[in-house]
Amino acid sequence: MTKESGKRFDTLKIHAGYDPEQHNYASQVPIYQTVAFGFGDPERAERLVNLKEKGFSYTRVGNPTTAVLEQRIADLDGASEAVAVGSGMAAVSYTLLNLAEGGGRIISASNIYGSSFDEFRTLFPKFGIVFDFIDDINDLERVAAVIKEDTKAIFAESVTNPDTTVTDVEALAELAHQHGVPLVIDNTFPTPYLFNPIRHGADIVVYSSTKGISGHGEAVSGLIVDAGKFDYGNGKFKQFEEKELVLENEEAREKRSFIETFGSNAFAARVRVKYLRLLGAVLSPFEAYLVLLGIETLSERLEKQVSSAKKIARYLADNPHVKAVHYSGLEEHPQHELVSRYFPHGVGAIFAFEIEGTEVRAKKILSSVKIFSYLPNVGDARSLIVNPSRTTHREIPSLNREKTGLSNTLIRLSIGLEDTDDLIGDLDQAIDKAFE
Ligand SMILES: Cc1ncc(COP(=O)(O)O)c(C=O)c1O
Repeated sequence: MTKESGKRFDTLKIHAGYDPEQHNYASQVPIYQTVAFGFGDPERAERLVNLKEKGFSYTRVGNPTTAVLEQRIADLDGASEAVAVGSGMAAVSYTLLNLAEGGGRIISASNIYGSSFDEFRTLFPKFGIVFDFIDDINDLERVAAVIKEDTKAIFAESVTNPDTTVTDVEALAELAHQHGVPLVIDNTFPTPYLFNPIRHGADIVVYSSTKGISGHGEAVSGLIVDAGKFDYGNGKFKQFEEKELVLENEEAREKRSFIETFGSNAFAARVRVKYLRLLGAVLSPFEAYLVLLGIETLSERLEKQVSSAKKIARYLADNPHVKAVHYSGLEEHPQHELVSRYFPHGVGAIFAFEIEGTEVRAKKILSSVKIFSYLPNVGDARSLIVNPSRTTHREIPSLNREKTGLSNTLIRLSIGLEDTDDLIGDLDQAIDKAFE
């Protein structure tokens, strides 16, 4: 793997993790569309399985195309290692299972993506993992009050879906570390270009790279990024200290633990060896290639999308039919100071607004837009529109939806790369139709 430290974002997004010399000098990263890789000879097979030699044997566990993506995202985030998986939900699930496996508690913000909330509330408890939900994750006293002996992690989105509330990652990381627990940040909305959670103290970053990272609505995919700084040997995480047959040094007849074998990379290594290998939500090499292609234009896309989003949010804020615009990128937003500190390139191109009147008007807007596509995704080159309370966030119980402002008149926008004035014109004619 290439050593890319010292290079800037725009160089890393094109080159990190890829050494053409290792791939017939191919200019683009080749797609290794193969299930398995030959061992060569039995001696090499032994070295590979005993982790004495790095290499590939089976694509569910590792693949050269995917490995470039993993190294690229690790370098972009300033992390020690990354693991690519089949979806953003797989990234969230594997990360939290790896931390709280066998039972325990996780503290989570309650204003998160609908499927994450549903998983935490209804599925993880069946595996003995219980969640303490916090309405305002920036209320550190409230968070500190629910930390218990068996708390295994704190989880939050850096920028929330869909109302763009920003998490004060530095403050939360400090609190988490005081209590010996890692901070996990879902950084899907900002992408590594707009925000770097690791630089601000996060231990693990997860992405749905289905969204802005790949950026064209073309590849369901997820990434788990490990800062490599947290001490999983602090007594709270027995699974990292257990001796494992799969890590056995056969010659020495000695079983080893993940911490003994992988040191500061124990978290990422365990995700790969226990979760990717055994639960199997692998990313295909072709999807990995598509995500790599998307990353090549990440900063250029986001610069334009954020600039358009700001203009569109301003147009909506000034529209008499709009009750509220939920976009922390607006100067009048209460989090403006925090946003300026953490997000020098802007907070993102996804935000929400509420329309005056009843849901009938919101539905009329959804069916009247001509450029915006009405569908459940974000971070595409196309502009997207959706009513989260009825679709992407419907799994959130109505009481929680009310608390977090997810009303039936709330509309989420994801701004794409079309002409900004055309997008404003499209919304304008749709809002006019709703108020005819
Ligand atoms: C913030 C966030 N995290 C995770 C996910 C899940 O991602 P995927 O659809 O790739 O599984 C989403 C999907 O919308 C999301 O918005």
